[in-house]
Amino acid sequence: MKLGIVREVRGGERRVAATPDTVGKLKKLGFLVLVQAGAGEEARLDDALYVSAGAEILPDADAVWAAADILIKVNAPDLLPDGAHEADKARAGQLLISMVQPAQNGELIERLAARGCSLIALDQIPRISRAQKMDVLSSMANIAGYRAVIEAANHFGGFFGGQITAAGRTRPAQVLVIGAGVAGLAAIAAARSLGAQVRAFDVRPAAKEQVESLGARFLELDFEEEEQAETAGGYAKQMSKAFIDAEMALFAAQAKEVDIIVTTALIPGKRAPTLITKEMVDSMRPGSIVVDLAAEQGGNCGYTQPDQAVEVNGVTVIGYTDLTSRLATHASQFFGTNLLHLLSDMGGADSFQIDLSDEVVQQSLVLHEGRVTWPPPPDPSKAVAPPPTAQSARPDAKALPQAGVPGAVTAAGAQAEKKPGSTRGLVALGVAALFGVIGLFAPAEFIQHFTVFVLACFVGWQVVWNVTPALHTPLMSVTNAISGIIVVGGLLQAASGRLDLGAILGGIAILVATINIAGGFRVTHRMLQMFRREGPAKSNGRGHHAR
Ligand code: NAI
Repeated sequence: MKLGIVREVRGGERRVAATPDTVGKLKKLGFLVLVQAGAGEEARLDDALYVSAGAEILPDADAVWAAADILIKVNAPDLLPDGAHEADKARAGQLLISMVQPAQNGELIERLAARGCSLIALDQIPRISRAQKMDVLSSMANIAGYRAVIEAANHFGGFFGGQITAAGRTRPAQVLVIGAGVAGLAAIAAARSLGAQVRAFDVRPAAKEQVESLGARFLELDFEEEEQAETAGGYAKQMSKAFIDAEMALFAAQAKEVDIIVTTALIPGKRAPTLITKEMVDSMRPGSIVVDLAAEQGGNCGYTQPDQAVEVNGVTVIGYTDLTSRLATHASQFFGTNLLHLLSDMGGADSFQIDLSDEVVQQSLVLHEGRVTWPPPPDPSKAVAPPPTAQSARPDAKALPQAGVPGAVTAAGAQAEKKPGSTRGLVALGVAALFGVIGLFAPAEFIQHFTVFVLACFVGWQVVWNVTPALHTPLMSVTNAISGIIVVGGLLQAASGRLDLGAILGGIAILVATINIAGGFRVTHRMLQMFRREGPAKSNGRGHHAR
């Protein structure tokens, strides 16, 4: 199966959809990789590197489009300088994978549909745990958040970290981050690592802990929104006007105090709210900076001009929409790795398929052999059943004599529902009877072992079951007690003095249990490192947040 990579045509785009590193891994998945000459040039990735990774270089984009079964790109097909359109190079049977933003690109989708190809929109991959490794929006937002701070530092005329020198002292820069999603958290981590004092605000209360764990202060509003600010998918909901007014009053006060504002506030599919007004910018100290990451969606700041850095009354307002492209090498690496995971999950070259029962594919497939499949049908498994009310749960309650009594027989002859507790009681009774029979007839030695076994099962079950699921991994990694018992058993067997099967198995048990114990400690240590609230200088700088 041939996989094609072309040079991006959008002006200012420096990323490429595969790097020599990901090409090597794509080859291992069985793909024959075709790369347009110069595709990675802007990301400082030479053709020679692609060749040594096993790619075949084709002279131009046309050759790649014509040969590839699957074509991977960063941006949606676009107009070419000669007036032709990339979409017209697609052909029936071909699968195109790129960012698409289907809600805003109806015309492009029609154009591609007419070509009879299939299309996967990377920006539509759902933000579910399994798909995190394919989530280009998150990996790119992480880079953008970091780069936003670097851009701010570049325009800022001072230190981020406070300095105490013989020549004098400076206070640390004060940074405000609005919106603590992926980009916002990455911005907080970057600003903290440069030594700034950071405060942040988000409408989602869940963001507080994440902000604080990065060493920043979470600003809170004394305002009760009636509805939850967060959707089931972890995104923010659009807030009421009263809430927005209240947060803007907070920002108006903050603008006078801080040196740098980074805004990332956005609700997917909606125009970005204006949260930093022109008056707020005017009230900032000269030399201050605003970096507006939402510039492409209209901007969070009144002065933002997309793709520009403008200076108003001494304050620089940066509205770059190509922040990820400004870190093209790493952005390409992350983008390529996200794609690699997607292609691997779709079966690799040998068993590649567009599997509509796969939630990731179903949500992101925009065209299937020329047929529009977006927006996807609502996922029935996600439908939340309304909680049963007295009426809805038992519409016939009045008709049933003794309706609340378990096992009551109705006039119609039907048995009213049994409470689960009664089934559980029956099972317990059965188990007790079984134990009684075992107790009566089994030999004494068996009873002794059996009692220990049953108690071990019960205690083990209680211990594991009562732990919050989020802690299961660390729990499993420290179940060294069990491995310890295995080691003791193994030692007893191995120390028997004979070289029989028991001694050999004992030796193997010691080895495996030791690996488990050592591995358990290692995993636990790594997990604790991830969750530890460290000081700013030691922060791991990760912008990702669990959703
Ligand atoms: P996200 O959805 O993870 O985060 C957005 C955050 O804003 C959420 O935590 C949300 O709760 C918060 N928010 C929404 N409305 C708010 C309000 N009224 N007040 C305070 N907080 C509010 O999105 P992500 O992935 O972090 O991206 C953030 C922005 O960065 C997006 O606009 C995205 O398009 C942009 N971006 C810009 C790039 C560039 O080059 N300029 C590159 C990549 C992303």
